[in-house]
Amino acid sequence: MQNKNNVVWHHATVTRSRREGINGHRSVVLWFTGLSGAGKSTLAHAVEEHLHQKGCRTFVFDGDNVRHGLCADLGFSAADRSENIRRIGQMAKLFVDAGVIALTAFISPFRADRQRVREIVGESDFLEIYCRCSLEECERRDVKGLYAKARAGVIREFTGVSSPYEEPLAPDLVIDTERQSLEEAVERVCGLLAERGLIARRAGQGAGHAGS
Ligand code: ADX
Repeated sequence: MQNKNNVVWHHATVTRSRREGINGHRSVVLWFTGLSGAGKSTLAHAVEEHLHQKGCRTFVFDGDNVRHGLCADLGFSAADRSENIRRIGQMAKLFVDAGVIALTAFISPFRADRQRVREIVGESDFLEIYCRCSLEECERRDVKGLYAKARAGVIREFTGVSSPYEEPLAPDLVIDTERQSLEEAVERVCGLLAERGLIARRAGQGAGHAGS
């Protein structure tokens, strides 16, 4: 590994605050967590679509996609999942610095890992959104057929079946994906963003941005 002491941190003149000023909204991480099949990706992409149509700069990090590239070397042991979440956390922070609303859709089953991301990103720039759905319903949906494989023992360490999921104790928002419609869920997430002053309530009304 290279000696960190020889790495010099460069300070940009184009700051996050200036980027946010041009964008007309604040940047933030929307961290969706929940079981596989709970609807994290669906909701993250639907929220992104809504925000994009309002002119916001957004990007979705999706578990299945990121694991093909940035985290292709990682599996599903507790240690690998932690490293997966750490990398995504660091990446999401860069996107926040770039003025973007970063939406992440990872199971992120361990509280300590999610807490570490909150610390990496910063308390005020991190919103944890729990996509709550019972294991029974996720298994019934079994969109990717992975629960059946996990029950058959073909996939090991599968979250909810043979690997734990630690529910958030104090998430910023809980979306009950068994009972709430997607439209309702999008409205609640965007409502939270407006409530926190991160986006404008109505189009054409710029949200405030952080001081430089
Ligand atoms: S995390 O635990 O490290 O946060 P991540 O969200 O990146 O997981 O990846 C989860 C996705 O990988 C699932 O939606 C599923 O498609 C796939 N997957 C493959 N094997 C497993 C496993 N053992 N446990 C959970 N998900 C798995």
